[in-house]
Amino acid sequence: MRSRTCLAIVLAAGEGIRMQSRRPKVLHAVAGQSLLTHVLSALDRLDVTGVAIVVGPGHEAVADEAKRWRANAAIYIQSQRRGTAHAVLAAREAIARGFDDIVIAFGDTPLIEAATLKQLCDALAAGAGAAVVGFRPTDPTGYGRLILDDAGRLVAIREEKDASEQERAINLCNGGVMGLAGSVALEILERIDNRNAKEEFYLTDAIEIAQSMGLKTVALEAAEDELRGVNNRAQLAEVEAAMQQRLRAAALGAGVTMAAPETVFLCADTVFGRDVVIEPHVVFGPGVVVEDDVVIHCFSCIEGAHLGSGASVGPFARLRPGTRIGLRVRIGNFVEVKAATIEDGAKANHLSYIGDARVGEGANVGAGTITCNYDGIAKHQTDIGKGAFIGSNSSLVAPVRIGNGAYIGSGSVITDDVPDHALALGRGRQAVKTNWRRPPPDTTG
Ligand code: UD1
Ligand code: MG
Repeated sequence: MRSRTCLAIVLAAGEGIRMQSRRPKVLHAVAGQSLLTHVLSALDRLDVTGVAIVVGPGHEAVADEAKRWRANAAIYIQSQRRGTAHAVLAAREAIARGFDDIVIAFGDTPLIEAATLKQLCDALAAGAGAAVVGFRPTDPTGYGRLILDDAGRLVAIREEKDASEQERAINLCNGGVMGLAGSVALEILERIDNRNAKEEFYLTDAIEIAQSMGLKTVALEAAEDELRGVNNRAQLAEVEAAMQQRLRAAALGAGVTMAAPETVFLCADTVFGRDVVIEPHVVFGPGVVVEDDVVIHCFSCIEGAHLGSGASVGPFARLRPGTRIGLRVRIGNFVEVKAATIEDGAKANHLSYIGDARVGEGANVGAGTITCNYDGIAKHQTDIGKGAFIGSNSSLVAPVRIGNGAYIGSGSVITDDVPDHALALGRGRQAVKTNWRRPPPDTTG
């Protein structure tokens, strides 16, 4: 438990005009999770006392996303978008409740780490009235610049549009995360005005105001990747790249083998056991758990699936949400699985669709087998018993049950249940007409 109380305020009311999108900016995703969720998950790791999220009018979807992650988050509406300080004051009621520390994070800065936020809190605990996290971006365009005095102390933040040419040459930029001492936060925020190029209430003015109040102001510094903000689609792609690098490094560190990690795309919530091997060009969507000793062959796409120990998947496999793969299961090339449980030791090695189904332990699903789960109106279940053998190119028309140990002849269309250990054939009988074709002329002389 933390000894000091901390309120985190996440600003997520901006229109995100530069994204050219109908969707609120903070709901755009990197590594399979919204920008907002990444920030909220860092705040979880910081173990804050309370979280307030400032959303724009009509952005119920943003509030819903916040509540999905943190049910007790307090939502405040900023009815007009008049700048970052104005946005913070939308949560005035929460600030007024009295916290030791106020941490303000932006919903569009998803790479922020709990350790950095912790440093900000430490600076407040050590007596700072206001503290910010700076960084040195390769391209500082658009960011506010941190103005330090000769002794290296932070005295102001200048927004780019208001900066002189000399100030623009500064490459230490504002990462957007700010800490304010709870005892003075409201006073500082209320003193901020909008006399600037954008006629907005800039949160960044808090530093000059804190200085004028005789408070200590502190600039911390973090790596560029951590403070990359997303204002347009190009930055969204840059943040995705940085996030992927971070996730790949974590997976390698946790004992996953990847010969070409730069080609593997992970999700923020992907969970790996030990000694997993991932071949090149594998893409993970949300909700994947991969247990020990699983091998995922190249060009596979996996989402919402649980892979049991020792399973082998791909190449070119597609596992969709609701897939549960048991121990040592083999899912081969061009096999798609959706909302299906494939029990221990079962195999579907080639060219199949298995949807809304159970494949029993040790069953063998032959090449080209399809579960016909959809009749145009509703989805139906296919149940394949333990040790069953489904001959190649069979269509199992659901709802249908194939018994334990049953055998389906190749090329069958199965519409009726098949009892345990039975053989079922559902195909046209082969007809052979002898001497039907005239033999070729004898040219051997
Ligand atoms: C801001 C900082 C800049 C910093 C940069 C870091 C200010 C004035 N500028 O600029 O110094 O370098 O972030 O990424 O703070 N928002 C609201 N309501 C508003 C305006 C913004 O909720 O009225 C939210 C946005 O949703 C966003 C965050 O505040 O999450 C930052 O707003 P944005 O417009 O992206 O500011 P930047 O121009 O990036
Ligand atoms: Mg921004």
